[in-house]
Amino acid sequence: MKTTEKISNHQQKNAFEAGPKSKAIFKDEQKYIAPGVQSIALFSELVMEKGEGATFIDADGNKYIDMYAGVGVASLGHGHPKYAKAISDQVAKINTGSFTTKHRRDYCKTISEVAPGNLNRIQLYSSGAEAVEAAIRLAKSYTKNNEIVGFWGGFHGKTGSVIGLLDTFKREMGPIMSGVHSVPYAYCYQCPFKMKLSNCNLFCADYIKKALKQASAGRIAAFLIEPIQGTNGNVVPPPGFLKAVWEIAKEEGALIIADEMISGFGRTGKMFAVEHEDLIPDIITVGKGMGNGFPVSGLISSDEIINAKPFSNPSGSSSSYGGNPLAAAATNTTLNTIIEDKLVEHSKTLGEFMMNKLRTMQEKYRFIGDVRGRGMMIGVELVKDRETRENLDKHITRALFDECLKRGVMSMCYSHSIRINPPLVITKEQAEEALDILDESFGIIAKRFNLN
Ligand SMILES: Cc1ncc(COP(=O)(O)O)c(C=O)c1O
Repeated sequence: MKTTEKISNHQQKNAFEAGPKSKAIFKDEQKYIAPGVQSIALFSELVMEKGEGATFIDADGNKYIDMYAGVGVASLGHGHPKYAKAISDQVAKINTGSFTTKHRRDYCKTISEVAPGNLNRIQLYSSGAEAVEAAIRLAKSYTKNNEIVGFWGGFHGKTGSVIGLLDTFKREMGPIMSGVHSVPYAYCYQCPFKMKLSNCNLFCADYIKKALKQASAGRIAAFLIEPIQGTNGNVVPPPGFLKAVWEIAKEEGALIIADEMISGFGRTGKMFAVEHEDLIPDIITVGKGMGNGFPVSGLISSDEIINAKPFSNPSGSSSSYGGNPLAAAATNTTLNTIIEDKLVEHSKTLGEFMMNKLRTMQEKYRFIGDVRGRGMMIGVELVKDRETRENLDKHITRALFDECLKRGVMSMCYSHSIRINPPLVITKEQAEEALDILDESFGIIAKRFNLN
C-alpha cells in the first residue's frame, strides 16, 4: 500500500469529519466488519439514516446530494414511494420461492419489449458477478467453446471466471481460470499504444484481432465487454470500436456478452448503452440500477441462444434467490417507473447539461484533462499535466472528496478518474448545486496544491 492510501481522515489536514453519531456507529462496526468495504463508505465514515430522491441524510442530520447512487444502483434514488410500497406489499404476502408471480411475468414481458433486437428472454440472479458467470456458462453451452476474451480496465465482479480478466484483483489469487484472454480497450485519452484518435485508424481493434490469432486456441466462447467502462472511469470508446469488436467475435465464432451492469436501464440516456451504436449483443448482463438496491441481476438473450444445453436444463440456469417474489416486485416497479417517468430521456438531457457544465470547468482548470460520458454516466479525468496526461496523486483527489463532502456532495471523486453517476431522478437544481460545489472544491485544491 502506498503512503498516500494510508492517510486516514484524522491524519489528514483539512479533512472532512463525520458527525459524532455517525462516527460512533462507524467506529464500533469497524471492530467487527471485514476490511475492504467500498472506499466511499470507508473514507466518509458516515452512517446514512435515510434518503429522499437524490439526497441522503446522515445520522447527525446532515444532508448530502448523491452523485454516485451506490455506484449506479439507486436509479430511482432513495425512499421512492412507489418502490417502497411495492416491496412492502410483496414482503407482507410472500417473499421466497422460484414460482411465477404476476410481477415476474410482467417484468419479463416488458424486458422483451425494451431489450434490443431479438433479445427477448431473461433469467434473474442476485449479484452482478453471478449474472456474468451465468452468461459465460450460457456462451459455453451455446458455442461449445471454452475461451473468454475480456478487455483491459474492464470490471465484471470478483468471482472465479472473470477475476483473470481484471487488472488488480487477480494478484495472489492464481491459478486463474484457463482460456482467458485480456486485450486492450479503446481508452483513447490514455491510449495504450500512445496514438491519436485522429489518425490511429482504430489500431487497437486490429491489434486485438492479431493478438487473439496468436494467443487463442481457436475456441472462443465469448467476448465480455462493457459498452462504456464504468469502474475504469466511465470510459466511452470511440465510434466504430465496439462494431469492430462485434466483427472480430463473429469471425471467431464467439458470442458478445455486453456487460451493462452500470450502463443499462437508462443510465447513458438510452435504455441500453449498446443502442448508441445500434449494436445487438448475444447476451446482455444487467444488475445494479435494474432493482434500485434490491440485490437482483440478470442476463438477457435470444430464444435461440438461451435454449442451449446444459444451461437450459431444468434447474440449469436458476439460483436460490434469483427472481424471487421480492426481486420481481423490485425490478418490475423500477422498470415501470423508469419508463413512466421518462427517466431515460431525463438522463440524456440532464446528462448533457452536466457534461457542458463540466467542460466549462475544464476551461478553467488545466488539471481537468478529460470530460467524457453519456447521459448520467460521466467521467472526469484529473491530470498533473495535460501533455503527459500523468494522473493527479491520490492525496490530492482525496482532499477533493473531503472538500465536496464538507459542502454536502457525495461523489466518487477520491481518485483521478471521477465517476459521476447520480440517481436518474436527480433534479436539474440538485445537479447544478452539486456541480457548483465540485467547482468550488476544485478551486480549493488548485490553491492548496498549487495546481495550475
Ligand atoms: C460492469 C460490471 N459488471 C459486473 C459487476 C459486478 O457486480 P456485483 O458487484 O454486483 O457482483 C460490476 C460491479 O461494479 C460492474 O460494474
